[in-house]
Amino acid sequence: MTENGSIFIADKNVKTRDLVSAFLTYQGYNIAVSDDSTPFFDTIQKKNVDIVIADLAYLKVIAADFKERVLDRNPLVVLIGYGEVSDSDLKQPARENVFTLQKPLNLDELESLVMRAREYQSMKMYDCSTGGSVQNQLLSSTMIGSSAPMQALFEMITKVAASNATVLIQGESGTGKELAARAIHQLSDRHGKNFVPVNCAAIPDDLLESELFGHVKGSFTGAYANRAGRFEMADKGTLFLDEIGDMKANLQVKLLRVLQNREFEPVGASKSQKVDVRIVAATNKNLEELVVSRDFREDLYYRLSVIPITIPPLRERREDIPVLIHTFLSRFNADKRNAVKGFSRDSLGILCNYEWPGNVRELENLVERLVILKGSGLIVPEDLPEKYLSGKVYCFTPVEALVPQADTMLPEAGICLNSAVEEFENNLIMQALSRSGGNKKEAALLLNLKRTTLIEKLKKKNMAFSGE
Ligand SMILES: Nc1ncnc2c1ncn2[C@@H]1O[C@H](COP(=O)(O)OP(=O)(O)OP(=O)(O)O)[C@@H](O)[C@H]1O
Ligand SMILES: [Mg+2]
Repeated sequence: MTENGSIFIADKNVKTRDLVSAFLTYQGYNIAVSDDSTPFFDTIQKKNVDIVIADLAYLKVIAADFKERVLDRNPLVVLIGYGEVSDSDLKQPARENVFTLQKPLNLDELESLVMRAREYQSMKMYDCSTGGSVQNQLLSSTMIGSSAPMQALFEMITKVAASNATVLIQGESGTGKELAARAIHQLSDRHGKNFVPVNCAAIPDDLLESELFGHVKGSFTGAYANRAGRFEMADKGTLFLDEIGDMKANLQVKLLRVLQNREFEPVGASKSQKVDVRIVAATNKNLEELVVSRDFREDLYYRLSVIPITIPPLRERREDIPVLIHTFLSRFNADKRNAVKGFSRDSLGILCNYEWPGNVRELENLVERLVILKGSGLIVPEDLPEKYLSGKVYCFTPVEALVPQADTMLPEAGICLNSAVEEFENNLIMQALSRSGGNKKEAALLLNLKRTTLIEKLKKKNMAFSGE
């Protein structure tokens, strides 16, 4: 398997199949294509495929049990031909691991769907892996962070996932609220069912009600057929109400009713419908302030914040910056088939001191941009955009400054020995790697480790780091 994973492509139209195959091969995926002599499922199993891409026409002729067998194993990207009407359960992505794409194909869209499918599959793989702390493996594979606030957050997410309680995630933009919501779903008993996100700020007010609760045919102009809402799609799963602070007053009342009674009425329906959903809501606004200014209902606020979680901004957990940088670097190097070796000590120092108003998203975007523009070699301060260079005088090397000292006093309240030791180890490894400019052999020498032992440690810690 290549680093990006392997994909099975089945399309009755050979031209489309070959185009998709060539494009994804170029993107670094290992491709297997359909061939009429081997049964569909056998190929998927034998080639240890991660993602399946198939056109609707192809899916319609294979055995009816494909859905259970394939979907239980792999995310599926369905290509839908022009004017072709899909089976309702494929077109309306009732399952979180079904993605649909309309032909004629837009390759950018295809690329981003495949990335989403890949993300889904990697979460699932961790979920299925056996042994010890599945939760920790899953969390640390998706949410990076060894700082104390992030370790506390992981612990909270793990505990919360086991319950059905409503969760309210607050934090500045780009801190990882959606990532945390997805982790809660993946770690819960509901992970086999849908995780359904709704961005309350992005859907026009007059459409949001029907989007959430569905509607019956004829209930308003344009309602040509009954349509299920997001609540129904999330039945037995998790509904993620994003940007909840932007929800208008009339809908706040309706949401409150669902939270109280676990039932709702589709627009235009005369009967209410029962539903079993776990609600996770998120906002980057201060809901308490909105309650005071009467822009958000107090009763709804209390219903939502049964378990409040706050994700701290990146500037309050700077220890996480190096490992985030190296994880993103490794991901974008692989995605873009580039070979940026790493960040020089100085450039890493500058980035660790920066304020990061856009938090992890801003950091992720910067690393992507640098990988594209630099292409190879080591990122040095001159490569950084101006705004990162202006401002403070950098008088210390933050990576060093953040290493816990061997003579750390035991705090009054005690300490989690394992995470303290882990943090100590991670910081020393990151220092060795940044001093060696990403060269693992040299870094291993600095740590008095074998190169293979260092690589093994990096893998375990999910501290992907490019370079030799
Ligand atoms: N701890 C983390 N580890 C790895 N990636 C992260 C982490 N936190 C955030 N990200 C990445 O940063 C980006 C932003 O995260 P996410 O969308 O979850 O933030 P958000 O808080 O929902 O932002 P917004 O308020 O703007 O919607 C995503 O690409 C996500 O994968
Ligand atoms: Mg978000």
